[in-house]
Amino acid sequence: MKLTGLRLDARLGIREIDNDHAALSRMIAEIGKLLHNQNYFDDIRDKAVRLFRFADEHFTREDTMMDALPYTKYAGHIDTHKKLHMSFLSQIAGMSNCAPNSRDVVLKYTQILSDILDEMVSTDRDMVNILIAEGVLQTSH
Ligand SMILES: [Fe+2]
Ligand SMILES: [Fe+2]
Repeated sequence: MKLTGLRLDARLGIREIDNDHAALSRMIAEIGKLLHNQNYFDDIRDKAVRLFRFADEHFTREDTMMDALPYTKYAGHIDTHKKLHMSFLSQIAGMSNCAPNSRDVVLKYTQILSDILDEMVSTDRDMVNILIAEGVLQTSH
């Protein structure tokens, strides 16, 4: 499983967004690490809730950034954020409701959270590529 940090190819070249995605990736990796000690189940839930809140803050930051740019797919991207928000919420709610010390269940949710992050990054990559193609953005790669 790729739970050790943001992959190099996941970087988009926009520092603020990359920093947020890297922080989200670290938070998911921390949840994964806690699986090694089953007594930390409450910590896992706390970290999962913090992850959800941070993801939400990230969406708000991105929404504000996109609002300031002439981004033609803005409405669709906001819809994707709302969908991802719901995905995070339902997965974290599911994680919070599962039986304490059920390592396999948390492992499954950790993988799902990692997959949601991949989807977030790929949506943002589409945005960056469009902004570059339209001459709005220039990135370092
Ligand atoms: Fe993002
Ligand atoms: Fe986004």
